Amino acid sequence: MLFRTWEASADSPVAIRDSHVLVSSHTLVRQVLADPETFAPHNALDAVTPIPVAALRVLAGHGFRLPPTLANNGTPSHPAIRGLVEKALHPHRVAALQPWLTGIVRRRVASLAIRLRSGEPVDLYADLTSDLPLLALARLVDLPDDDVRVVKEFSRAALELFWAPVDLDRQLALAEIVGHYHAVLRKHAEQGEGMIAELRTLGDPDLVVGALFFLLVAGQETTSQFLTLLLHRLTTEPAVLAGLARGSMRVDDVVEEGLRLVPPITTWRRVATRAATLGGVEVPAGASILLWLAEAGRDPSITAEPHDFVPGQRGSRRHLAFGAGAHRCVGAQLSRMEAAVVVAEAAGLLRYAEVVRAPWCPDNLSFRMPDTFQITGSGRRS
Ligand code: HEM
Repeated sequence: MLFRTWEASADSPVAIRDSHVLVSSHTLVRQVLADPETFAPHNALDAVTPIPVAALRVLAGHGFRLPPTLANNGTPSHPAIRGLVEKALHPHRVAALQPWLTGIVRRRVASLAIRLRSGEPVDLYADLTSDLPLLALARLVDLPDDDVRVVKEFSRAALELFWAPVDLDRQLALAEIVGHYHAVLRKHAEQGEGMIAELRTLGDPDLVVGALFFLLVAGQETTSQFLTLLLHRLTTEPAVLAGLARGSMRVDDVVEEGLRLVPPITTWRRVATRAATLGGVEVPAGASILLWLAEAGRDPSITAEPHDFVPGQRGSRRHLAFGAGAHRCVGAQLSRMEAAVVVAEAAGLLRYAEVVRAPWCPDNLSFRMPDTFQITGSGRRS
């Protein structure tokens, strides 16, 4: 069950499941995130399926190392690394990207509309959402000059290797993809400019690679997942689509309600550094704490209509899709801006569309990873 947490609801605020302490109430998830002394982030990137020696050898052969850098860094080096990443993703830089992104999305949507009108099905994942966050990130951070497909293959392989149930053959294949691209990142970390050069001044080459790794894996991949999930959810919300078309509904509110109800990261981990009590449940030192972010967003204590998509409802923005506290997502502004552009430009495509194939999400502890999302048009103009 834990691998598909978006399909289930919690039966208690704290429960022991599959060797994790599963925390689902909004109050308790916040409490854990606000207390890094007791609940540290060191295990954030630990492989859910232990990586066997044979696959570790493959990774080591490529010089793979994943030191504490950002999300998995509870050491004193964290604030300086985070500060440089925050600078690269500063809200002013993000806002400056908006016209460029709007242009790209508008052109794509226009061509999709033509295809839909001619009766052709379109794949909103492949043809619209999949690569946008990577293209945007590449304008903010100096990235290796690789084909988008290569980077996406790497980032999805990493999400599978570290967060999915996988057998040995698959681990070996994934380790090869991840290790190979990690070596590409290592090379780039030696020469890259801007944020990369600034990170180099901190004096540890591994942390430059670690930061690039995390940005490429969690940063861009999560946002393309969110765009796909949100567009799909909107096909089931005709009143919201009508409100957007009329201009009576705010795009930002739609994005926020999407983050609350269809977050791309459904759970996130912490580790108990000492024995503690959570919601009356004893938590031993060393326990893996699994924070059910998606369920916290549906907690009846934060909104009056926790399961319904009601943009602008009171409490809608109190979701924990981006975490909270010292490790709160640095890319929140960027992903919100991207989602707002996509909703504003593409919602019209969905109004008269029929879903031919809903995105499918594979088993994963934390990431949704939706794939193909095919729609057809009903022949009406978007
Ligand atoms: C909808 C899209 C996204 C979601 C839902 C999301 C969610 C998260 C979550 C849950 C965390 C962990 C927070 C915690 O431990 O309290 C996180 C951390 C982080 N995210 Fe995001 N993220 C998204 C997009 C992005 C983007 C676009 C970037 C950058 C390009 C990014 C960069 C980061 C970084 C660097 C951290 C680690 C921060 C730290 O440890 O100080 N994220 N994100």
